[in-house]
Amino acid sequence: MDAVIILDRLQRHLEIASWAELTHHSNRVASLVTRVAQILNIPAVPMAIAAYAHDLGKISWPVELRDKHPLSPIDWGLIHSHPVVSAKELAQIWPQAPPDILALVRGHHERPGGRGYPDGLKEISTELSIIAACDVYDAITSERAYRPGGAQDARQALLAVADFAPARVVAALAAVVGKIA
Ligand SMILES: [Fe+2]
Ligand SMILES: [Fe+2]
Repeated sequence: MDAVIILDRLQRHLEIASWAELTHHSNRVASLVTRVAQILNIPAVPMAIAAYAHDLGKISWPVELRDKHPLSPIDWGLIHSHPVVSAKELAQIWPQAPPDILALVRGHHERPGGRGYPDGLKEISTELSIIAACDVYDAITSERAYRPGGAQDARQALLAVADFAPARVVAALAAVVGKIA
């Protein structure tokens, strides 16, 4: 299926959820991922599709969980399962989705050395690092209702990304957002 059709379906799927911040976050992450992938000479379209789909699993959350803080153990269970649900949602929207794109969606909260979830992967591919880096960067620099302090400085966000992403990914992201890493 044509990538444009997939991206359009994903966009509509997000819009139906009436969760504007999630739609905007997905759009911003996809934009960052596309530009970082281009700098690193990695095919951008599969990355963009994975970025659009990465948080689809949050759509089925109860509305009160969207901005809830602090979280209960049950809430954490839902949060930790969302990458798996996101990959299932993408496979429903796009039955021919390539396994590597589904793996990018499922793995966007994985961290080197098994520090992430849902699978505790020890090794993180460059593609996965790019999605994770752009996701964390956008989460930190965006306003979130549960964090009254508001958006943090881009430089702080890049430092947080450098904690888990390879230097060349951090440098590419820094170039995209116009900051020196
Ligand atoms: Fe996520
Ligand atoms: Fe996200």
